[in-house]
Amino acid sequence: MKILVCKDYAQMSEKAARIFAAQLILKPNSVLGLATGSTPEGMYASLVEKYNEGKIDFADVTSFNLDEYYQLPVENDQSYDYFMKKHLFNHVNIENFNLPNGMVEDVEAECKAYEERIEAAGGIDIQVLGIGKNGHIGFNEPDSVFIKNTHLVELTPSTIEANSRFFASEEEVPKKAVSMGIGTILKSKKIVLLASGEGKADAIAKTVYGDIDPMVPATALQLHNDVIIILDEAAASQL
Ligand code: GLP
Repeated sequence: MKILVCKDYAQMSEKAARIFAAQLILKPNSVLGLATGSTPEGMYASLVEKYNEGKIDFADVTSFNLDEYYQLPVENDQSYDYFMKKHLFNHVNIENFNLPNGMVEDVEAECKAYEERIEAAGGIDIQVLGIGKNGHIGFNEPDSVFIKNTHLVELTPSTIEANSRFFASEEEVPKKAVSMGIGTILKSKKIVLLASGEGKADAIAKTVYGDIDPMVPATALQLHNDVIIILDEAAASQL
């Protein structure tokens, strides 16, 4: 694992955006793995800026998001589809973007199809990740095993509580989500994990120094040979 400690959120975001920009310049038809949450917002803003300056182009890019809430219509302003359009897709010339469809009847078939679409696109070249306070990545919650493929997840009370800040009340937060599995994430050629703020310091310390343990899903990243962790000073404070 390579660890970069930045002064603050802005520097972390810029560093991450430059890694993605370089990827797009070197391989314009890259397959990007994308994440939601407040952490990557600054990186997306910087990528939009670089696009507007003519430095990068998304015409040949394919993207796959990590996760989507289950049974939350995409028109809902808390859906991850809505988030991605708001922060990135509506501002750049990307045409081929994909998120798991959480509205389907047959969620098992959707999970299988999502994996197949990623494979058919040639696999993910670079995946950005945030991290939950409990060490979740995507929506892979602490569990007794690492779940390999895209699957339906029961969100933990702590994740529901953490995400309730975006909803009018905790009752409105969906209790399930469709998420890439740990195997799906580990198959990415390169992984960039971002974390900012004191609240993530414990999860980051466990990710870097802890035993590989499905109770802290991000520890699986220790098994990958090309992971860059970009932190601000607060998130790095327990390293
Ligand atoms: C959600 C998302 C994760 C994200 C996490 C942390 O649960 N599914 O992909 O990493 O929240 O979010 P934030 O970046 O807002 O702290």
